[in-house]
Amino acid sequence: MSDRFPMPMPYGWFCIGHSDELAVGEVRNIHYFDRDMVLFRTASGRVGLSHPACPHLGAHLGHGGTVQGESIRCPFHHWQYDTDGVITNIPYASRIPPKWEGKPCLKTYPVCEKNEVIWAWYHPEDEAPDHEVIALEEINDPAWTARQRFQWTVNSCPQEIAENGVDVAHFKFVHGMEAVPEGETTYDRHIRRSRVSGSRTVNDASGNEVRIDTRVEVVQNGAGQKWVRFSGFMDYLLQTLVTPVNDDSVEVRFIYIHQPYPEDSFQHLGMQFAIDSTNGQGGVEGDIPIWHHKFHLRTPILCDGDGPIMRFRKYFAQFYVGGPYPGEDDVPVDLEAVS
Ligand code: FES
Ligand SMILES: [Fe+2]
Repeated sequence: MSDRFPMPMPYGWFCIGHSDELAVGEVRNIHYFDRDMVLFRTASGRVGLSHPACPHLGAHLGHGGTVQGESIRCPFHHWQYDTDGVITNIPYASRIPPKWEGKPCLKTYPVCEKNEVIWAWYHPEDEAPDHEVIALEEINDPAWTARQRFQWTVNSCPQEIAENGVDVAHFKFVHGMEAVPEGETTYDRHIRRSRVSGSRTVNDASGNEVRIDTRVEVVQNGAGQKWVRFSGFMDYLLQTLVTPVNDDSVEVRFIYIHQPYPEDSFQHLGMQFAIDSTNGQGGVEGDIPIWHHKFHLRTPILCDGDGPIMRFRKYFAQFYVGGPYPGEDDVPVDLEAVS
């Protein structure tokens, strides 16, 4: 916990990189969730994520460790471990120590790949995942081949960034746009969905006014997976992924997926405009200076023009082991009254 954020780190699946950033045979040191970890990809393409300390005599697997087939090999005495942390080879021993034969001894963490992203499961007490990363159908759609990726490091925490989406009043003052309505929202355990539809009038390439129906769907699946699906005169999907690095630092990744529109098309310009405004002052870069320095107030003073901030907090509270404010009463205000 940091001085600015009384909450512990939330548990969940979090993006720890793009799949194509980790080649077969590669071993990388990474640092998320306030821990050093070693990430590797085996010969068959499986991803492994482990504690860096070799359980033999403690050498660091991320400094000189190599992939051998389906295992990672320690640089010190060449013991090998599979992605479950089970010893697969000790080149100078007549047998694997019986106590550890077939049993994991290298500490590993749950990891998976979906939506072209590598996901790590973080849980402060090492409990197994209680939900899965949701696969997005557009990823494998042969028409949706365009990807654009962006990344920022922000001095903040996952809840603060997620809460920004329901803070409807700030859209006008930070982003210079009309308040974005929350839309129709449902909460189902770890999943929050909200949908807004409307219509806009825009000028097409020939200057004619065209009315376009638009639809925006936002889904949050646990603390670390969120996406926004836009439908209108161009359709696109935006994954907005926030991963804790330590108590007051997160990596934010935006991944846009869409059809490749011809360069001179209306949709191409529209897509570029959408990306520029979502990443720029109309979006993340408008928020970052606020996020960098703001405090999380357990009992904010809210007015009737604020969005459903406390309802959102109630939803997000489920991702904290021991509650969002450990040692204090769980619920700061009468949530029913504000939801
Ligand atoms: S310390 Fe890793 S094999 Fe000995
Ligand atoms: Fe914002």
